[in-house]
Amino acid sequence: MGGGKAMSMNSSTDDELISAARQAAVQSYSPYSGYAVGAALRFDDGAIVTGTNIENASYGLALCAETIAVSKAMADGRRGGLVAVAVTGPADKGNGAPITPCGRCRQVLNELAGLGGTDPAILCVGSAGSREVRLSDLLPDAFGPASLV
Ligand code: THU
Repeated sequence: MGGGKAMSMNSSTDDELISAARQAAVQSYSPYSGYAVGAALRFDDGAIVTGTNIENASYGLALCAETIAVSKAMADGRRGGLVAVAVTGPADKGNGAPITPCGRCRQVLNELAGLGGTDPAILCVGSAGSREVRLSDLLPDAFGPASLV
């Protein structure tokens, strides 16, 4: 992951977003993996929309935190304006390395970002450190809304 930035460099708005993601993870329904994820989206009007992962007894139907957050935002009528995303994982898994959005979530985030022409900063947070990357770094050459017009 290029362009990493140390956690200590985070701005107060980044810290607020990370806190919102952590708070969202409290409501994670993840009895099968035990892996609670929080996501928080920041919009250009200052709004923050959060999500957490929701699993299912049919394991493959788990819904990721980022996908839920995007779904909530779009169900509220948002169609762009996505400027930053924070994603947090559990402190006791993966050696505390920063979590990065799964492939499907990258594509889902790209849909909302693409509608507003933004390339949001993705704050990937782990207990042992954080990284900040652009969505376009995580999903280069993305297929998105602009591909269809
Ligand atoms: N998970 C997320 O919520 N977001 C990701 O980007 C990666 C994975 C969830 C899905 C599942 O509930 C748990 O983490 C373990 O894969």
